[in-house]
Order: sequence, then C-alpha cells, then structure tokens
Amino acid sequence: MNVDLYERIWMMVVAVMLAVMFSVMAVAAIGHSETPPSHVETIDPSAVMRDARFRQFGVSVDQTGHLHATIVGTTFAWLPAKMTLPAATPVTFHVTSVDVIHGFEIVRTNGQTMVIPGYVSQFTTQFEAGDYMVACNEYCGVGHHLMFGTLTVVPRAEWHEPTVTYPGPTLAAAGGHDEHR
Ligand code: CUA
Repeated sequence: MNVDLYERIWMMVVAVMLAVMFSVMAVAAIGHSETPPSHVETIDPSAVMRDARFRQFGVSVDQTGHLHATIVGTTFAWLPAKMTLPAATPVTFHVTSVDVIHGFEIVRTNGQTMVIPGYVSQFTTQFEAGDYMVACNEYCGVGHHLMFGTLTVVPRAEWHEPTVTYPGPTLAAAGGHDEHR
C-alpha cells in the first residue's frame, strides 16, 4: 500500500500525540491516584427522604471527626441551600437527586460532580475561607438558572462543629477515602 509522505507524517504525529496523552492519563491515574471522583453507591431515588443516609441534610461529623456534607438536588433547589464549613479541613460530600440529572458545582473550586438519580455521588475536598456559589451546571428544566445555593467557608477557629452525627456508612465501609484510592 502506497501511503503519501505527508499522510505518513500526520499518522506519526497523531500516534505520538495519542501515546503522550495516554501516558499522561496513566501517570495521573496510577502514579498520582487522580481518578474521577466518586464510587458506585446506589439509592432508590423515590425514597431518598426516607433513606437513613439522607434523613438529615447538611454538615455532620462521623466518629473519627471527619466532616460530611449531605446534599439533595431537586428541581430547582439544593437542599440545604446554605452551608458553613471550616477552611483547610477535608469534607466528604454526598450528593444525590430525587428527580433528574443535576450538576453540583461549587464555583471557583474543584468541588464538582454530576448528580444522577439512583446514585450517591461522593467526593472529598477542602476550601480556603470565603463565600462560594453552589450552582447547578446541568440543564435540568425551566428553573435550572434558579438552582443555586451558597457555601460559606470560615477560618477553623470561627467554626462551630455540628452536633449531627453522620448517619451513613463510614468511609472505610464505603470503600475508603476517594482522595487516596
Ligand atoms: Cu439542576 Cu440545572
């Protein structure tokens, strides 16, 4: 088969680009544990409000002192719409939807996940002090643009630990800390 010289050069360039990109992904995923957030945790979307994991929204603390933020997406609001968290402290978010797909995004941070009915999205991150907008970044209906909340991050010394105990499985039981998997 006679392949034109220019075509052969382009094929080589494409092959090198693919090799470089796959290598970068492999190094990030295997070497730096930078895998996509979350894990496979399912929930009956019609029974979220009766589920022990989502009986209380908002910030809670588990037996080890680790913070959790439990959030439900619904057309067209995040429940709760307001949260306060301490700065420079890891927080594990658990987000689910009772209706359609939403996009949970804490604007200007790396806190972001799709929110799919039937699944509990989970990620762990931490913040610098400041006020953050929590937006929905997946079009979910006529009120999509109204679906936002606020996250206030205060210095640790100004923060009051919640009295609510995280009701879900511990991180170890849920498959470990997704930051370090
Ligand atoms: Cu929820 Cu867009």
